[in-house]
Amino acid sequence: MPSRREFLSAAAAAVGALSFPGVLAAQSSANSGSARNALAAVSPLTKLNNGVEMPVFGVGTYALPTFQAAEVIRFALNNGYRLIDTAANYGNEKEVGEGIASSGVPRSDVFVTTKLWLEHYGYDAAMRAFDESLRKLKLDYLDLYLLHWPQPVDFEKTIASYKALEKLYADKRIRAIGVSNFNADHLQLLRDRTEIVPAINQVEVHPYLSQEAVVKANDRYGIKTECWSPIGGIFTNHPRDAANVVHLLEDPVVVKLGQKHRKTPAQIVLRWHNQHGRIVIPKSQHYERLLKNIDIFRFELSAEDIAAIDGLNRNLRGGPDPNAFDLAAFKAAAEKRRSALD
Ligand SMILES: NC(=O)c1ccc[n+]([C@@H]2O[C@H](COP(=O)([O-])OP(=O)(O)OC[C@H]3O[C@@H](n4cnc5c(N)ncnc54)[C@H](OP(=O)(O)O)[C@@H]3O)[C@@H](O)[C@H]2O)c1
Repeated sequence: MPSRREFLSAAAAAVGALSFPGVLAAQSSANSGSARNALAAVSPLTKLNNGVEMPVFGVGTYALPTFQAAEVIRFALNNGYRLIDTAANYGNEKEVGEGIASSGVPRSDVFVTTKLWLEHYGYDAAMRAFDESLRKLKLDYLDLYLLHWPQPVDFEKTIASYKALEKLYADKRIRAIGVSNFNADHLQLLRDRTEIVPAINQVEVHPYLSQEAVVKANDRYGIKTECWSPIGGIFTNHPRDAANVVHLLEDPVVVKLGQKHRKTPAQIVLRWHNQHGRIVIPKSQHYERLLKNIDIFRFELSAEDIAAIDGLNRNLRGGPDPNAFDLAAFKAAAEKRRSALD
């Protein structure tokens, strides 16, 4: 594995002079071993329904290998990222925690999200799983804790788990609570049975899947929409048809807009999300991509550009359908994928 210095200089070379100001200065300070001058936060903040402020742009960690995770998180934090999205099920909370601890960025400046995995649903199990996540992350509070998926086959357990989140929130161990992959009906069922409106609903959204109904329901309840696979990573991570992989970032509309604005396809898509008012957490384990991905706040897409990307929607889901989400089926599919790779 290359050294930190090699990573940083490779990233600097890849990004070049077009990068946003401060990056190279931050890199040289990181090279000197001091994180005191880590690049200031790049992402604007948004206010959640409980008044807590959250960055609108962060880094995802799904499929981020454990051997690289601490270094990637440290690099991201030292280069302006302040929002980190992980999950118990990603198996890298420990390394993500190491990255946060060693970044030198004050804990209070970092917004950390993790998620309760379905195998730990139920009130008591959720409480234990929360403690375990905090222990692995080496934190004494979380900024945001999410239920990873609704369990339509056992919604009682979903409710009981959310009640555990409410208790943890009341005890000030979490600054905000929320859900992930909930559709409008799941949100209604939750509202009927619980006290606190989720602050966030993290769902699959990208130009090929607009999720209009869910986004509208979120807006109606005062829930912020956070987009997973914002640049379509799910299609390449888990192709449904290996012979016909969907490459969202190669879509001619996106590529053409990249040429028009002199931006990468990923920057175009991420700016599109941002101008729609949504939170994004693109994952990359490549340093030059991490730097470029967050560099979206210095150009504007026109109304016509936005409409052109809106027009790409084809309701194409890369991940599981939350209406039919069933843990046993999910695990069987994951096992099938694993053995296909062996
Ligand atoms: N709540 C949920 O159920 C759920 C589900 C899935 C994901 N998530 C969260 O959302 C985050 C983001 O979703 P995701 O990781 O599925 O997909 P994504 O962020 O849309 O895409 C990530 C993929 O795109 C590549 N990539 C990143 N930047 C790029 C660039 N500038 N140009 C070309 N390729 C680029 C990455 O490869 P490299 O790493 O090699 O650069 C990776 O393969 C996850 O990491 C996770 O934290 C949540």
